Amino acid sequence: MAHQADEQNPTIYLKDYRAPDFLIQSAELVFTLGEEGTQVQSTLQVARNSHTDADTALVLNAESMEVTAVAINGQALANTEWKHSDDQLVIQTSETAFLLSCTNLIHPETNTSLNGLYRSRTMFCSQCEPHGFRRITPYLDRPDVLSKFQVKVIANKDKYPVLLSNGNPMQRGELDNNRHFVEWQDPILKPAYLFALVAGDLEVVEDNFTTMSGREVLLQIFVEAKDLDKVDHAMLSLKQAMKWDEDTYGREYDLDIFMIVAVDDFNMGAMENKGLNIFNTSAVLANPKITTDARFQWIQAVVGHEYFHNWSGNRVTCRDWFQLSLKEGFTVFRDSHFSADLNSEAVKRIEDVRTLRAYQFAEDAGPLAHPVQPPSYQEINNFYTLTVYEKGAEIVRMQANLLGPEKFRQATDLYFDRFDGQAVAIEDFVGCISEVSGLNMDQFMNWYKQAGTPVVEATDSYNSDTQEYRLQLGQSCPPTPESSIKEPFVIPVKLGLIGSAGELAFQLEGDSNPVVEKVLSFNKTEQEFVFSGVSEKPTPSLLRGFSAPVKLRFHYSEEQLVHLIRTDTDGFNRWDASQQLAELAIDGSGSSDTLVSSYREILGQSGLDPAVAAMMVTLPSMEALSDSKQNLDVGALYDARTSVREEVADQLESLFRAVYLENQSNQDYQPSASQIGRRALKNVALAYWVTAGSAEALEACKHQYETADNMTDCASALSTLVNAKSNQVQALAENSLRDFYQRWKDEALVVNQWLSIQATSGAKGGLNRVLALMEHEAFDIKNPNKVRSLVGGFCGLNPENFHNIDGSGYKFLADKIIQIDALNPQTASRLVTPLTRWKNYDSERQALMRNELERIAQGELSSDVRELVGKSLL
Ligand code: BES
Ligand code: ZN
Repeated sequence: MAHQADEQNPTIYLKDYRAPDFLIQSAELVFTLGEEGTQVQSTLQVARNSHTDADTALVLNAESMEVTAVAINGQALANTEWKHSDDQLVIQTSETAFLLSCTNLIHPETNTSLNGLYRSRTMFCSQCEPHGFRRITPYLDRPDVLSKFQVKVIANKDKYPVLLSNGNPMQRGELDNNRHFVEWQDPILKPAYLFALVAGDLEVVEDNFTTMSGREVLLQIFVEAKDLDKVDHAMLSLKQAMKWDEDTYGREYDLDIFMIVAVDDFNMGAMENKGLNIFNTSAVLANPKITTDARFQWIQAVVGHEYFHNWSGNRVTCRDWFQLSLKEGFTVFRDSHFSADLNSEAVKRIEDVRTLRAYQFAEDAGPLAHPVQPPSYQEINNFYTLTVYEKGAEIVRMQANLLGPEKFRQATDLYFDRFDGQAVAIEDFVGCISEVSGLNMDQFMNWYKQAGTPVVEATDSYNSDTQEYRLQLGQSCPPTPESSIKEPFVIPVKLGLIGSAGELAFQLEGDSNPVVEKVLSFNKTEQEFVFSGVSEKPTPSLLRGFSAPVKLRFHYSEEQLVHLIRTDTDGFNRWDASQQLAELAIDGSGSSDTLVSSYREILGQSGLDPAVAAMMVTLPSMEALSDSKQNLDVGALYDARTSVREEVADQLESLFRAVYLENQSNQDYQPSASQIGRRALKNVALAYWVTAGSAEALEACKHQYETADNMTDCASALSTLVNAKSNQVQALAENSLRDFYQRWKDEALVVNQWLSIQATSGAKGGLNRVLALMEHEAFDIKNPNKVRSLVGGFCGLNPENFHNIDGSGYKFLADKIIQIDALNPQTASRLVTPLTRWKNYDSERQALMRNELERIAQGELSSDVRELVGKSLL
């Protein structure tokens, strides 16, 4: 295995895990916040761990700070007794238990990395996961050191009337120089990554929740005054999440206050700090005027996700960062179940699988592929990946399905009760699954330990004389950087058999009764399953509900796909069949006429959920179509997809018109699943109708843009105009874009949508538009949301422009990565993804992309970008 780790960037191995040499039982912190530096005074109750001998020095993490004083048990230490090198504070002492006091200085005001303590607009805020706390004060910044925190925050009273930290407020008071303080105490043990501090001039919206045992919890959402009208949805989502976790997992909230703070500058969506969640404004603020349906649903999911971490992550935390999926995979599984329960199960499943296939599969097939529990890393920030999150959630989902709801609940009860207050490993979670079910999970662990997406090849045969149906399954997994040898996975294959008039009964060899659905446990390289009593030659409905995160290969004929779309009882597989049929039409092995007539049927089916219908008549994305392709010519694929789209639009023009008109509504806007579904179908129909090119359609689109009372309809109409091909529409689009900006320039989140609609437009000349926008007053390179909307949108979601064969898109991205890396490594490293996929493309593009990666590699880089670029070039 190749290594390119260097001294600045040593590789850290899971197998090297050792318990900490010292423990920190309590931490008392005093922050004196200032515009020109912040002082932190810490008093830590430290204890030598039982395995640690007396001459082992105490080594604390301490980065980007100046340490000014160190004392033990109140005695100042001499300069020879402590040493602060670049990122460590080494303290010589032979005491077994002692009070360590440190004073240090940090500079939040110049911290553009948004990691540690920093400023966002007018406030101070913190981000500590995974390694931010070591940039605040010297500490054992690792998740297996759990401590009780007491925090005093001192700041100017006028600029920072609100001072927040974890837990409960204990004391507040006035100080000299127009300053005040608040003291917070968190009674629950926690690792440093869950610490949070916020200070600012904030308004608060309050509500209450009574827990299942009858305790009153005060709920507070803090925002800037201008955003007070955008908090209701998050508050409702929070109460829904609290109730859902009680009902579904029996988990109750444990403190008297739960706070959320919205900040504009944030690297991620949100963070689950104990009792004080910090949210990117984009993941919390909403109202119908400024927020799209997708965003409403995202906010509900993120609020749920961070809340659910209170048990899956905070009360039971990770032993080390190799166990990240223990909290993230499990919590994504939980939030996705929550969203499914509150909205639509089928829709949520399709959305999740779409993301997994388009992005996680690509990651798993590329140079950065890694197991859900990686064996090593250089920069942990690079491991907050789709694999750890989404594949991790799929793995938990398989276990939940394996056990069924009751047993799974018993297993999670056992897990939460047994490990409450501890820092544990993925094996501890799976151990509970095994203990409760009696199942041996050894082979199942391959899902966590092996990277790569398994490929399942299926063939079948039917004997009408014996009424026997045989299904042959074979599995393989392509080599990935950490290993080229793969052990077989345990793959649950849920299936049904579809006959001419619907589901057929069948009896699996060894079973005593016929059934209409079954989960096969496919755990060998090759296996044959024999079904008897099958009355006619069936079309198999395989991997129902996407029962395992694999690539299934079965050669369905067009007729079979059409039949599945029509008759399968599994909603997910009906959608999946529609995608396969479209893919056949796009790659030329199927006909667009078949696709068109199937779409006609879908749109005519009265019982179908409009949200599902909308997804079924949407062609697979470029990302989905690119999966498993080599030597991909993006331009040709885009053209093929566009031409099928135009064909569908032309042939079904009047139907799309009718669907559009039928799905208008004059109800007041609600972000409810049923309204969202109707709007989705209406807007998909509008986009096709406009593609067909009539003046009437264009007029309807313009009218919708101008009169919409909600952002979903407004932005959708705008984006349809912007993506249109004809010159006439282009002129109209320009006008609307100008109008949109004028209307919304004071709403940062809407301006971000304006940026991303333009960045992702398939219209020609995309890069020039983006370059111009980089100079626009609305853009700010220091704000991750704006960078994501514009740079991320163009490079990640606009393949036809980004992959321009002149290489201009690649050069642009490399320039931005270099520029942003100097400010904010985490945001820069997330931008690298499109370049890491270079192997998928034709040789000309490969060379251009590699060139840019090499150019980036030559500069001085953060460990974040260096690791990704280095691994991509191996
Ligand atoms: N713990 C993470 C936030 C985080 C990740 C902080 C990486 C620092 C580094 C949080 O729980 C999370 O996963 N947030 C997601 C949203 C969620 C719905 C998947 C995010 O921020 O995108
Ligand atoms: Zn999370």
